[in-house]
Amino acid sequence: MDRKLIDPSRLVLNPVRIFMEDWFILCSGENLPGKFNFMTIGWGSVGVMWGKPCFMAPVRPVRHTYKFMEKSHDFTVCVFPKSQRKALALSGAKSGRDIDKVKETGLTPMGSLKVMSPSFAEAELIIECKKIYFGDVDPRNCISATIAENYPEKDYHRMYLGEIVAVHGTEKYCSEK
Ligand SMILES: Cc1cc2nc3c(=O)[nH]c(=O)nc-3n(C[C@H](O)[C@H](O)[C@H](O)COP(=O)(O)O)c2cc1C
Repeated sequence: MDRKLIDPSRLVLNPVRIFMEDWFILCSGENLPGKFNFMTIGWGSVGVMWGKPCFMAPVRPVRHTYKFMEKSHDFTVCVFPKSQRKALALSGAKSGRDIDKVKETGLTPMGSLKVMSPSFAEAELIIECKKIYFGDVDPRNCISATIAENYPEKDYHRMYLGEIVAVHGTEKYCSEK
């Protein structure tokens, strides 16, 4: 994949459509067999907090990836071409507890530039993040009554905020202006 380094302030993406149409793979741990895990995420946000470019990733504590997110100082989020949709569906349906996700998805983990967590050779966009904050969804703070519908099992997301420390992507993700 022909990616180049992108300054976070030059990153081009539709922050709503990217989650609804493309999904991401969230990956955390070390780039060694068995030392990292990844899963598909369809929710999250990209923006600025405390003056830093940030990515927010919501992870339910029941996910295998949660353990890695807790242990690790960082994570990566990757966007893939549509041809990898099957791999993303699998990574969002099966747990790394039960299957070898690298083998089953056919994705190729590789070292990242600024963080320990691996990214993927097939990705068209890679966002590397250092964890700077987390917050748990607290049912007492839910102003909209519909939010509770997402938690019949009371497995409230932990929202990890990562400072974006490197972005690399194909041409379409970079604005020259
Ligand atoms: C489109 C899609 C979006 C998802 N978004 C999230 C999410 O934002 N947060 C989350 O905790 N799980 C999300 N999931 C579910 C996990 O990807 C799924 O439970 C996965 O199997 C967890 O893998 P793991 O146990 O190896 O971590 C999503 C699944 C799909 C298919």
